[in-house]
Amino acid sequence: MPLVAFRHDLHAHPELGFEEHRTAARIAAALRDIEGMDVFTGIGGTGLVAVLKAGSSDRSIGLRADMDALPIQEETGLSYASCTPGIFHGCGHDGHVAMLLGAAQHLARTKRFDGTVYFIFQPAEEGQGGARAMIEAGLFDRFPADEVYALHNWPDLPAGTAATRPGPIMAAADRFEIVLEGKGGHAAIPHHTPDAILAASDLVGQLNTIVSRRIAPTDLAVLSITQIHGGHAHNVLPPCVSVSGTVRSFDPVVQDGIEAALRQVAEGVALASGTKAKVTYDRSYPATINDPDAAEKALAAAARVCGHAHVAPAPALTSEDFAFMLHARKGAYSWLGQGQEGKGAPLHHPRYDFNDDVLATGMNWHVALAEQLLSA
Ligand code: NI
Repeated sequence: MPLVAFRHDLHAHPELGFEEHRTAARIAAALRDIEGMDVFTGIGGTGLVAVLKAGSSDRSIGLRADMDALPIQEETGLSYASCTPGIFHGCGHDGHVAMLLGAAQHLARTKRFDGTVYFIFQPAEEGQGGARAMIEAGLFDRFPADEVYALHNWPDLPAGTAATRPGPIMAAADRFEIVLEGKGGHAAIPHHTPDAILAASDLVGQLNTIVSRRIAPTDLAVLSITQIHGGHAHNVLPPCVSVSGTVRSFDPVVQDGIEAALRQVAEGVALASGTKAKVTYDRSYPATINDPDAAEKALAAAARVCGHAHVAPAPALTSEDFAFMLHARKGAYSWLGQGQEGKGAPLHHPRYDFNDDVLATGMNWHVALAEQLLSA
């Protein structure tokens, strides 16, 4: 099946994290059709790895694609749009799978390398840590890649271009929830209960001072409050209000500083208002940090196939669970231009549309990386 058709089939049948059963089965079947490919399934849930060897060298490289879709109702109107209501490949992981599968087919055909290539298809990138699940299931013990690489389509970069950078490329993502508890009561008798709504309003303002006043201006971080829940009637003061959001950072010291300040601010607001604060702070994905040498290799391979590869001037504040793989192995994460600068819908938008014209570029990038690292 041509790569575009394969991608469209996955697109029409998207699956959420750790539920990519059909997707993984399709990929495994396509890989088993390739001569010389050994396929191993069920690694960290729905994850799979294909192994291709050539020559006699013991060098190896891992190439990773993510497989999961998002809980979004697609609004693209495409002929191959999602057949599953409320689930949509809104981040282009269907494209990532197709590019890596294409690279597997190409490398098996040409075998212009000396060593082992591990093709890693991982589940649940969108917030559930599929990369971590695969590592905990023994990914790098069973498939000990010397170095590991991944790419993500990037709508705002011109098509036919690529970018990455040494050091931080994607942020650490933390989640927090602060519940302020009062007592609740009649809105006309406010002096009989701590006002959790007023306290929450104060808390939102105070939390927004953490990055600007507690973190050095030279450090990069974001704290966004995304939800406030509380109250149900115009004449009732609610017993509790919750305030939650996300924190993004690149340096663990900055991350620690923000969490400590957030806890202090919550306690302080609670004390001042007579409420009680219950703080939940979860660190989900660490920052994605590229090895400088690996980032250079990724750029060199991209320059070979794209012609235009540049060092990204700044990291992105979004996050990526490939971070876990880069904690375990040397490697780099890169962005592949989609050619929708300011025109198309962004990643995770109901009208996001993966650009099939870049499938070949991404495929060739994987091939070039493998041939470069495992040069015969
Ligand atoms: Ni993604």
